[in-house]
Amino acid sequence: MRKQIAAANWKMNLTYQQAEKLLDEILDARIMPKPHQEVIFAVPYPYLLLTRSEVEEEYHYSASAQNCHHKKSGAFTGEVSAEMLHSVGIQYCIVGHSERREYQHEDGAMLATKINLCIENEIVPIFCCGEPLSIREAGTQNEYVAKQLEESLFHLDAETVSTIIIAYEPVWAIGTGKTASTAQAQEMHQYLRGVLANKFGAEAANEIPILYGGSVKASNAEELFSSPDVDGGLVGGASMVAEEFIEIIKALK
Ligand code: PGA
Repeated sequence: MRKQIAAANWKMNLTYQQAEKLLDEILDARIMPKPHQEVIFAVPYPYLLLTRSEVEEEYHYSASAQNCHHKKSGAFTGEVSAEMLHSVGIQYCIVGHSERREYQHEDGAMLATKINLCIENEIVPIFCCGEPLSIREAGTQNEYVAKQLEESLFHLDAETVSTIIIAYEPVWAIGTGKTASTAQAQEMHQYLRGVLANKFGAEAANEIPILYGGSVKASNAEELFSSPDVDGGLVGGASMVAEEFIEIIKALK
């Protein structure tokens, strides 16, 4: 079975003390992922080592970065490279979150270089895509999101692309409390899997977990995840409330 994933994205929230408490509360629930399931915490850089060491002994729990720089190394004060993340044992990194595309002006070509650097450094990229409200209202969301995949992933070969994770996050659903309906999520995920199959073949496309993100919470996770092409969620707000995230993990199929 394709990997099913509950990924927390804390963004720029929580102090170290709050982060430690939250991790303890979630891990204390002792939810044992099945062999095809994975729980990932995408945390701010200063909490990566804490998170890594907290989950070290746990089965299928991992720490993830929320970003890495698009250059290998050099005079980029304040930035963090994929190589650095690898050197401290981090195995996942979010690439191209819509907040970074918008506020840091990250474009498709830049994200393609981040994807390459992650892969070179044995880090699994969690590649984010998704359309803003105006595009959804114009009804051109399929073309828009397909282009995002094309710009940042189509240079890869089938074997490599089958190792990454994709997160479809409609921008209008992020942090708004407005979730895509189960049907809207399934429709887009199925479409994206088709786009990937056309380019890379059905076998590779079937391996890639496609997570849904945008106001996932305990009350809607099970229904969203029940769709055949929705392989779990990338969760912001609700991932910082222990009881909520615990239920979201339990909702994985
Ligand atoms: P949200 O954020 O769950 O708070 O909508 C999701 C995300 O941005 O990854």
